Amino acid sequence: MTVRDPRSVVARKRDGNTLAPDEIEGFVEGYTRGDVTDALAAAFLMACLLRGLDAGETLALTRTMVDSGETISFGDLGRPIVDKHSTGGVADGVTLVFAPLAAALGLAVAKLSGRGLGHTGGTLDKLESIPGLRTDLAPDAIARQVAEVGCAVAAQTPNLVPADGALYALRDATATVPSIPLIAASVMSKKLAVGTDLILLDVKAGSGAFMKTPRDAEELAAACLALARGWGRRATVAVTDMSQPLGDAIGNALDVAEAVGLLRGEVGGRLRELSVFFAARALEDTEGVPHDEAVARAERSIDGGEALERLRRMVEAQGGDPHVVDDPEAILPRAPVVTELLADRAGTLAAVDAEAIGHASGALGAGRARKGDPIDPAVGILLHPKIGDRLTVGEPIGQVHARSEEDAQEATRGVLAALTLTDADVSPPPLVHRWLAGGAA
Ligand code: URA
Repeated sequence: MTVRDPRSVVARKRDGNTLAPDEIEGFVEGYTRGDVTDALAAAFLMACLLRGLDAGETLALTRTMVDSGETISFGDLGRPIVDKHSTGGVADGVTLVFAPLAAALGLAVAKLSGRGLGHTGGTLDKLESIPGLRTDLAPDAIARQVAEVGCAVAAQTPNLVPADGALYALRDATATVPSIPLIAASVMSKKLAVGTDLILLDVKAGSGAFMKTPRDAEELAAACLALARGWGRRATVAVTDMSQPLGDAIGNALDVAEAVGLLRGEVGGRLRELSVFFAARALEDTEGVPHDEAVARAERSIDGGEALERLRRMVEAQGGDPHVVDDPEAILPRAPVVTELLADRAGTLAAVDAEAIGHASGALGAGRARKGDPIDPAVGILLHPKIGDRLTVGEPIGQVHARSEEDAQEATRGVLAALTLTDADVSPPPLVHRWLAGGAA
């Protein structure tokens, strides 16, 4: 539909009115077609950010975005199809572990992932650090691979939700990203455009997330769940901790090596725990497996090597070198300069500015400031301590992988400045703040 005067839509939202679905539809369609200018659309986004959108407006925006492009259906793959999505974090390699793990548990994982933006990492960038691996798979190739291997992680096609692509880039450029309804519509439009049996959403809360507090993250989680319900789709949302990097690796090849180490049973900690929780939750929600049994099965799939074998097959199916699961260090690209990170103060780690650490890794070349910028797969940061750990001066706490000594020194300064130490004892933050389940009407 066409709105006669798109300025009136902006003015009505500016003045705090509730927009009708056809006003939202007309405006967003007009922008996607190129009939509405960037300036007017930016004003619309700022009005939405400042005045808010109610549940009906958010649903109308989401529907318009889904309808702007193709939708993907994988047909009957003979097992439940699960999608898992994180709202973005630092050292968040859950998808790299979850996809092969859930496949080893008999589920199908069809996952369309994004690239890193700003301080957050992206699964596609991480996976593409494996030599030869391709993520530009067509929907029928994804369906074939999921039927044969159980999992595929591919790039979103350009035609999936193009309105979000256009609006997201404008939000990024106009400081209008941190709005709960706009994020909910953006995230969920990409999930709802793909036909899966269960959407598992990981809404991150803390210094390394878009939502800085669990309360805001819960509001975002509830908004996403309301959209799934409005669509009649099943969804489970977890609000999880991002007050520090989840795993230890903040880069791309480094994250793949960490995920492989985890699936080889060599890496434990919070990344393993959260990956197991999500895989178990997928089994619970799709197959009705009781929680304790689902967790035990997920743990066994890692310890028995079945999940690692799925990763090998997934990498091979996508053209990557499958030996990465046997000897990641030999296969993955390596940075020319590796320096040790040493604690410069003593005390208990009380807080971590995970966003600053994400930026430090980005500045090494692991991330991109703008969509489309190239990244360096080999560089990044390893940071081992977690909140509550005691550090002594000079203790090795990680590594910087860089292109030059200067880059390494700069990143070292950034990481050390991002750590807050105290003399008091500090309890680790909870890993999962809250699960919200439901969705399907
Ligand atoms: N991720 C998205 O896909 N959209 C947002 O708005 C924020 C995070």
